[in-house]
Amino acid sequence: MSARYSAAIIGGGDIGHAHAEGYAAHPDVELRAIIDPVEAARRQFQREYGIPEAYASVEEFLATGRPDLVSVCTWHPLHAPLTIAAAGAGARAVICEKPMATSMGEVDAMIAACEGSGTTLLVSHQRRFTPGWERARELVAAGVIGEVLTVEARGVQGLLNVGTHLIDGLLFISGEPAARWVLAAVERETERFERDTPIEDRCMLLAELDGGAQLLVQQDLPSARGMASPVGAGMALRFTGSDGMLEASEFFVRVFSADSGGWRLDLSLEQVDTIGGRANGRQVEELVAWLEGGPEHRCSARRARQTTEIMMAAYESARRHRVVPLPLQETGYPLAAMIAEGGLPPTVPGAYDIRAFLHRDGIDEERYAQLRATGMGHHEIMAALAGVPGRRG
Ligand SMILES: NC(=O)c1ccc[n+]([C@@H]2O[C@H](COP(=O)([O-])OP(=O)(O)OC[C@H]3O[C@@H](n4cnc5c(N)ncnc54)[C@H](O)[C@@H]3O)[C@@H](O)[C@H]2O)c1
Repeated sequence: MSARYSAAIIGGGDIGHAHAEGYAAHPDVELRAIIDPVEAARRQFQREYGIPEAYASVEEFLATGRPDLVSVCTWHPLHAPLTIAAAGAGARAVICEKPMATSMGEVDAMIAACEGSGTTLLVSHQRRFTPGWERARELVAAGVIGEVLTVEARGVQGLLNVGTHLIDGLLFISGEPAARWVLAAVERETERFERDTPIEDRCMLLAELDGGAQLLVQQDLPSARGMASPVGAGMALRFTGSDGMLEASEFFVRVFSADSGGWRLDLSLEQVDTIGGRANGRQVEELVAWLEGGPEHRCSARRARQTTEIMMAAYESARRHRVVPLPLQETGYPLAAMIAEGGLPPTVPGAYDIRAFLHRDGIDEERYAQLRATGMGHHEIMAALAGVPGRRG
């Protein structure tokens, strides 16, 4: 092998493809192994990316020796145990998918395990590499809207799922301020899950950031007026400052200030994928640079910890009916605790998972292959086979 780093992907599903594309984009990385209990997934990854080794279990893979770069691309409950297992085997770096974990206890155990083994840990908030978010961060840092007073976003499909990207983007663009406290409201009328994790039907969270700005996230709330991007889909974020306003998604930035002459839309940005080769490729590139002595990665575990803490504090705030100061003391998953304590009795019984359609066991693999041959993405194919609307995230 001539590459300086070998990589392995645990979880050959939708986001596993983005990690494979990201590794393929780096000349010093060879994607060596795919780990997935589903044989069709292993075969597909080996075929599509020329991966030489495939394993049905993480234990089997880790028994082969010390791994270099490991991507954890499974559903949320496995993020912490698999990251800790990879660190235990001496991995040089782990890129764990978002959300980092579903409790601060898990988050801190992941960080401790990685510190103990000298493993560099990232969390894949790869939208930080999109041109809209990067330009917005530059403009806010340059003071085009003055002092930041309020940062806000609206999302769908769960706080842990999409909300983690929204909070991460708001913090990234406003210069990574720490949060001081969180106050939140949570509704769970149905027994809603997302990737094996109980989630809310709707929630709204307000946090105060260092410097005094407020962060507001509305998740799954019915709203007549969204924050839609003027140039296509994307996660729209809004920043209000003492001297103006800025709106951004991964694809656009527009500014309203005293000298902008109304809304000034920046149309020079590349319209790139938010997931996949380019964003994930740059994520890998910055990781290799960090491993070789470069600056802290923009998706470091330290940064993802802050986002996860805000989400966990939101659930804890709803559980306790009060403002929750940070650092958060609760180490469990407060939403699950609230459900167990009877604090969120469902009025519509019947558990369902909004990502159940991603289960590959038992699908029509022949039809899958036909759709894949047309260039469709994995997530879209799985949604089509299940007859549900697919929205990646
Ligand atoms: N960063 C992003 O923009 C983004 C986008 C989509 C998904 N995600 C995250 O990626 C994670 C995976 O989501 P997905 O949509 O790719 O799911 P998926 O269901 O498409 O893929 C998960 C894969 O993991 C495999 N798997 C299950 N148990 C395993 C085990 N013990 N060892 C190895 N493999 C195992 C499954 O067979 C499946 O192939 C989630 O946590 C999700 O939040 C992130």
